[in-house]
Amino acid sequence: MKLAVIFGGKSTEHDVSVVSGTSIIANLNPEKYQIYPIYIDKFGTFYACPYNKKILSLGESPQNLKRIDNIFAYLKNIDVVFPVLHGKYGEDGTIQGMLDLLDKKYVGCHTLSSTICMDKVYTKIILNSAGIKQADYLVVKKYQNEYKILDNSYHESMHNSVSLINFINNKFNYPIFIKPSKSGSSIGVTKAEVEDELINAIEDAFKYDDKILIEEGIIGREVECAILGNDELIASPIGEIKTDTSFYSYDSKYKSENEQTLIPNDISFDITNKIKNIAKKAFQVCDCKGLARIDFFIKNDNEIILNEINTMPGFTSISMYPKLMQEYGYDYKTLLDKLIELAKNS
Ligand SMILES: Nc1ncnc2c1ncn2[C@@H]1O[C@H](COP(=O)(O)OP(=O)(O)O)[C@@H](O)[C@H]1O
Ligand SMILES: [Mg+2]
Repeated sequence: MKLAVIFGGKSTEHDVSVVSGTSIIANLNPEKYQIYPIYIDKFGTFYACPYNKKILSLGESPQNLKRIDNIFAYLKNIDVVFPVLHGKYGEDGTIQGMLDLLDKKYVGCHTLSSTICMDKVYTKIILNSAGIKQADYLVVKKYQNEYKILDNSYHESMHNSVSLINFINNKFNYPIFIKPSKSGSSIGVTKAEVEDELINAIEDAFKYDDKILIEEGIIGREVECAILGNDELIASPIGEIKTDTSFYSYDSKYKSENEQTLIPNDISFDITNKIKNIAKKAFQVCDCKGLARIDFFIKNDNEIILNEINTMPGFTSISMYPKLMQEYGYDYKTLLDKLIELAKNS
């Protein structure tokens, strides 16, 4: 089978994708697959890379690249594509749409589900209508110096920066989370503990998206569940994030030595089952395929809150998704084979 692995990409998560992509390439069985690594640089140019098993570290780019002038022609003879891209122009349905046009089979969610899950506001709207509990929120858009708030009854109101802050203060207690609607790896996400931090956090989030969310801060444990499958779904055991910073930020995800992702043994069978069932339901409601990592909070009163769906979660051999599937019983190499098999049958 001729398998193309696409990694890198134009998004803010380029570096993370390089690590995920090269880790996948290093672990694919070369006796089963003819591997064609394709690197996309930060400007969006596609390159064919020589196949080798060297794993790059965060921030490195591959060497000996050959520019691909016509990506459609290059992909013509490829059987399956593994788009290991995180964030915008990769996890958001754009690459998936291109592959659909080319009639290619590919690993993971298709165009519509990728687009929905990349956008935190649309994910909320769709999952709310399926009765899945999420954090309370407001949507904010910016027009020159004015802000438009859309509340979750779809009521719109225009504000200057003072009335915007007042509106938020009247609705939420602190801490409040501010996030770009389409983000990943916590880029542009801020936890505001006091009113003074709000406006900078809002402006920062607008650097990454023209639509942002203001969200009630959830106090509780942060847990994740990996889903694998097309129609018949496997839900992994539950993993937990333990962070010694105030939330799971970019630095704590990729730069801290003290971050811990673990398989907790003190979450009851009942809660674990509920989380697995909500994860499967969310996957189906959003029409996901192949894989997704579904992230939750468990509040102190045991209420389960879905935080987000990641359609192409971090994929180094120590990332949470492979770790959870390993816990289920599929090691990294088996998991790659399963995902490629699912792609062929999707
Ligand atoms: N409403 C919230 N309450 C508590 N913590 C939150 C909330 N929203 C986000 N966080 C924290 O911020 C991190 C990043 O936010 P998240 O919504 O997962 O964005 P991203 O797509 O960038 O990962 C989460 O892993 C969690 O630690
Ligand atoms: Mg997240």
